[in-house]
Amino acid sequence: MARSVYDEVYARSMKDPEGFWSRAAEDIHWEKRCDRVFDDSRKPFVRWFAGGVLNTCYNALDLHIERGRGKQRALVYDSPVTSTVKVFTYDELRDAVARVAGALRRQGIAKGDRVIIYMPMVPEAVMAMLACARIGAIHSVVFGGFAPNELAKRIDDAKPRLILSASCGIEVNRVVPYKPLLDGAIDLAAHKPERCVILQRPHDTAALVRGRDLDWGDFVSGAPPAECVPVAATDPLYVLYTSGTTGVPKGVVRDNGGHAVALKWSMEGIYGVGTGEVYWAASDIGWVVGHSYIVYAPLLKGCTTILYEGKPVGTPDPGAFWRLIAEHGVNVLFTAPTAFRAIKKEDPQGTHMAKHDLRRFRTLFLAGERCDPDTLLWARERLGVPVIDHWWQTETGWPIAANCVGLGMLPVKPGSPTRPVPGYDVRVLSEDNREMDAGQIGSIAIKLPLPPGCLPTLWNNDAGYATSYLTKHPGHYLTGDAGYKDDDGYLYIMSRVDDIINVAGHRLSTGAMEEVLSAHPDVAECAVIGVADEIKGEVPVGFVVTKAGVTRTESEIVRQLVERVRAEIGPVAAFKTAIVVARLPKTRSGKILRGTMKRIADSQAYTMPATIDDPTILAEIAEALRAKGYATQR
Ligand code: COA
Ligand code: AMP
Repeated sequence: MARSVYDEVYARSMKDPEGFWSRAAEDIHWEKRCDRVFDDSRKPFVRWFAGGVLNTCYNALDLHIERGRGKQRALVYDSPVTSTVKVFTYDELRDAVARVAGALRRQGIAKGDRVIIYMPMVPEAVMAMLACARIGAIHSVVFGGFAPNELAKRIDDAKPRLILSASCGIEVNRVVPYKPLLDGAIDLAAHKPERCVILQRPHDTAALVRGRDLDWGDFVSGAPPAECVPVAATDPLYVLYTSGTTGVPKGVVRDNGGHAVALKWSMEGIYGVGTGEVYWAASDIGWVVGHSYIVYAPLLKGCTTILYEGKPVGTPDPGAFWRLIAEHGVNVLFTAPTAFRAIKKEDPQGTHMAKHDLRRFRTLFLAGERCDPDTLLWARERLGVPVIDHWWQTETGWPIAANCVGLGMLPVKPGSPTRPVPGYDVRVLSEDNREMDAGQIGSIAIKLPLPPGCLPTLWNNDAGYATSYLTKHPGHYLTGDAGYKDDDGYLYIMSRVDDIINVAGHRLSTGAMEEVLSAHPDVAECAVIGVADEIKGEVPVGFVVTKAGVTRTESEIVRQLVERVRAEIGPVAAFKTAIVVARLPKTRSGKILRGTMKRIADSQAYTMPATIDDPTILAEIAEALRAKGYATQR
């Protein structure tokens, strides 16, 4: 392959990382420049831009106003579920954020305090995040589709002084009252926040707890605007919890300095987007994509960002994305493949696209789950723009592998997120840490150090950070994904090496679901696997073996199990299928053969594990799956 700009930039980032990132850091406004671009004096806890002082909110808002962009659109809120479109210029957004920051101050919130944000996709949620950044408070956004139990775990770990929430969220055809979920979570949690601030939405107003809860209107009314508080580059900006291999979520920490540098660089380098352009990430602020590419990166770059409270289909039709692109002049869209599978299913010919003016639309980026070539090719053919699959995770905060449009596009190979992004030294390793040959599947690791923006540690859990990510392959960060590189150095991300599954682009732990199932009084043992789903990519399916002498019927047990997962993890788990079986397939040492069960469910060929205890159980599992519509091809 001919050498491209990408090759040259990538090589520079590998040869001289400090020089590379120090140059990128010039694009950020620093109150004080760093003493050391890269500080590895406390290995393995390395830091970027040590000694630097900045404010992320200043860089995302005030800086652009000072540069004459105050009247430019900063945030466009488009909510088909409430029939609302609201536009905030940089001036307006900065003023609103400064007021929320002042209101937080008035409640005694100061630098380093944690604030949980449990809100739907409304502008106040974005303002809340930026307001925390403005005063150096650490936000932790919790996705609205999580149940009280999950919110309680995050409250106990982050120990927020204050929680910002809303009376309700609005799904396609139902109002989801958030306040009872919040109250339930606070009841369950050992840590009690001093104050909750509730944004009352007209669709369902919530009763407030006297002495603890405050109405959002009263909270901000008369609050003096707060100025930006300078923080250390290495101070945390936020903590975002993500699924680990157990029911205990991991608190991914993001710092201020490295994050601002990497994200601003990525807008041009990866997405090919310039200041003043319109960028839309159709995700949720509860996920990392929302943090990085709805809120921080587009604003750091001085773009217009879109906040969409709706779905790809059903709000009201599969033309929703095209309406937004045309109406708001979107240049670049980023979403998950599942959204396109949903659109394709309802509008296979793409007839809705023809109804909208998509001339300003330039590139589509997909991430969050493996992108099947069919979906990529369908989108490319119908839209007539490049479709870029890129790969990353909550921990890194920005892409690990992508076709860097800003560095000149490389040929697209459907099924591959292309090559490592500058800053990431990606290796495919064997169990004994040897690099695999091209075409050979192994564990995908990143040679240390990670570039700026990636997690420096887990919240209050340095030891957990080291054991989860740094011990499996010494000198490398374990991504948890398995895959291979081809002869051109293109990466192929095939599966997880742990029990994490990806449901509609949402990362979930089957281990957490198994914990819920096994807590049912009738369940002796269980296994949850992710099986292929036409729209969501994967959905969880649970297998349970009941205890001897249970009196409840199978259908009653299954109904209760489905209800329990929804109540304890949340509707986002999309756990709808549980199957009662007589036995689970295991190795002679007692390990459940989840991988083999998954292959059977997905009608894939499998080799009989040599260590299987009793091969006849696999036929029973296949039969049980067939009764539910899986494992249909023998
Ligand atoms: N608050 C409360 N409940 C929520 C919620 C929220 N913020 N978000 C989702 N839910 C609920 C849904 O209502 C649904 O409940 P149900 O079981 O009663 O139907 C459940 O959680 C699952 O939601 P979801 O995964 O969104 O599935 P869906 O069937 O409603 O929609 C898609 C399917 C493909 C349209 C949808 O997943 C989608 O738009 N995905 C876009 C991709 C994305 O945002 N990825 C994030 C990472 S980039
Ligand atoms: P999350 O932390 O929720 O962003 O999920 C990260 C995980 O999603 C990764 O570790 C992968 O397993 C999966 N993932 C994200 N993007 C891709 C992609 N482009 N291709 C394959 N898998 C992906």
